[in-house]
Amino acid sequence: MCQNHYLKNLLDENRTWVESVKKTNPSFFKTLSQEQHPKLLWIGCSDSRVPASQVTNLKPGDIFVHRNIANLVLHSDMNCQSVIQYAVEALKVNHIIVCGHHGCGGIKAAMHTADLGLIDNWLRNIKDIYNLHTDEISSIPDESDKVNQLSELNVKAQVRHVAENPFVQKQWDLGRNLSVHGLIYSLKTGLLRDLKISVNGKMNENKS
Ligand code: CO
Repeated sequence: MCQNHYLKNLLDENRTWVESVKKTNPSFFKTLSQEQHPKLLWIGCSDSRVPASQVTNLKPGDIFVHRNIANLVLHSDMNCQSVIQYAVEALKVNHIIVCGHHGCGGIKAAMHTADLGLIDNWLRNIKDIYNLHTDEISSIPDESDKVNQLSELNVKAQVRHVAENPFVQKQWDLGRNLSVHGLIYSLKTGLLRDLKISVNGKMNENKS
């Protein structure tokens, strides 16, 4: 059976990975099984080409991750809000990264009017950002550059949403060291770029 074959391969690969990790660090899994102390919450796109740990060269235990289509941070999304609360209150991460990427299918879909069913409700949130910047985006001649520009504008909007989050604001009231950053990932080069919109306190925009 094709499905069973796929699963068998997957489990074989898992065992190969476990052995290679244990070769360099025999107590890796035993240590990690006790507790996690990630310093970073990563909010990224579900796109298979942007895996948080791999593109940052970090290891299991280093990043708490939330991914959804087009890396949205919606105040009404209990899933994302719960992840943020747990990350800042229980794990006490010091950094939250919102990472978008060029060539994002979710962003592309939001720029068009095709009826895609359920996902249209999700994409509505990106259409709202698009509508705020139609002049800027329509002045860009190349179609893929338009998508990439909206991807970056979307990251900026989502960083603001994280900074406005009540759990995040509470941490700043307590004087905790917590920064929110916006990054964009290039599928073509594999490189991350800082959009220089970091926020590390209430209404305190850090340009560096
Ligand atoms: Co995407």
